[in-house]
Amino acid sequence: MDTTQLQQKLEEEQQLHLMRYYEEMNEEERETFVEQIQSIDFSLLEVLKQKESQQRGVITPLKACTIDEIEKNKERYEQRGLKAIKEGKVAAVLLAGGQGSRLGCDGPKGVVDIGINREFYIFEALFRNTMEVTKKAGSYILFYIMTSKINHEQTISFLEAKNYFGYPKEYVTFFTQEMAPCVDFEGKLYMEDRSHIAMSPNGNGGWFRSMEKKGILRDIHSRGVEWLNVFAVDNVLQRIADPIFLGAVLEANCPSGSKVVRKANPEEKVGVMCKEDGKPSIIEYFEMTQDMLYEKDEDDNYAYNYGVILNYLFHVDALEKVFQTKMPIHFAKKKIPYMTVDGEMVKPTEPNGYKFEEFIFDVIHLLDACLPYEVERNKEFAPIKNRTGVDSIESARELLKQNGVEL
Ligand code: UD1
Repeated sequence: MDTTQLQQKLEEEQQLHLMRYYEEMNEEERETFVEQIQSIDFSLLEVLKQKESQQRGVITPLKACTIDEIEKNKERYEQRGLKAIKEGKVAAVLLAGGQGSRLGCDGPKGVVDIGINREFYIFEALFRNTMEVTKKAGSYILFYIMTSKINHEQTISFLEAKNYFGYPKEYVTFFTQEMAPCVDFEGKLYMEDRSHIAMSPNGNGGWFRSMEKKGILRDIHSRGVEWLNVFAVDNVLQRIADPIFLGAVLEANCPSGSKVVRKANPEEKVGVMCKEDGKPSIIEYFEMTQDMLYEKDEDDNYAYNYGVILNYLFHVDALEKVFQTKMPIHFAKKKIPYMTVDGEMVKPTEPNGYKFEEFIFDVIHLLDACLPYEVERNKEFAPIKNRTGVDSIESARELLKQNGVEL
């Protein structure tokens, strides 16, 4: 792309202000700048103009397969799940591209040490939990880790230094997620410095396409993997490649499953399993009205009571089919550091624009079915989002101790 083409492109996209420092850039800077422009999906900006089309369908409650129901068939489910694991049909996908800003850490969340009398890292907890299953199954599973450009190097060097906490390295593969541009409230892209556009990770929903782009899907197919267990970095108690969960999803003949917990209270900040236009779906807490939060069912329980813990099982074939269509794009008001046209660096204290994100759970509604699978929150849900208080290092430590983990 030469200078005239670049100018033309930016004019078409109404982003000509980005040329402000072009004359002053050296050859190398120009090259990166053009590459960045070429990598940007400008159609993203359309979503800002079509706010109405983001409207949800008709939301109604959805019941889950409860702990009591699961308990009755536990052994059978487990045997079926372990068999699939032994046959190499299951792989783990850890979503670790997020920035941990609420936790106040600059680097990857997984490197945070939550130990008290000894070191105990978030990544360590996840490998430890995986190894409980692989030990039982007698075989390791492929373990994919999604990072972002911002934390990729640091994630790899940390895990290398820690020798993957005993998990065989040859089973671990990293891939980076895509980035999306940050814009002001008028949809104008921000510059991060003289030659770089301000970008941020494109949300946890971009994982499948990023895997595809990096050639990982071919790997998955050639190794005969049929199921992906996708999970968040921040829940140190979660079961990974849980054979009972897998067995239950297989028996229900569903292309997906979602682990859920009974909400701690109606206002808990978690996504909730529901039906949308009659099909399983997930709605985030901030999209729910007060009436919905407190609605009761015929047994006097909260109707929207099953919160998702971000631990999903997906059949690869079903994903491939649905990811041929575009996923919804969400945009959220954020504080975006930027450089003004006068070259001044600004670190805003109030939101000054939007970041674009895809959400993993949007795929559930596009699949034919999903099994909402209840787990005990005190045994499987210890998310670390904040430094103290609710969903924090403190609360996670407490839960780990309750579950016999020495810290
Ligand atoms: C998430 C879920 C929410 C669920 C809750 C349970 C989404 C959109 N929200 O909320 O429904 O109830 O967990 O704790 O799924 N990530 C990336 N790349 C990104 C952004 C995030 O890999 O660009 C990863 C993070 O590293 C983390 C996970 O996605 O592992 C969750 O991200 P976060 O944005 O913190 O979601 P929550 O608001 O905690």
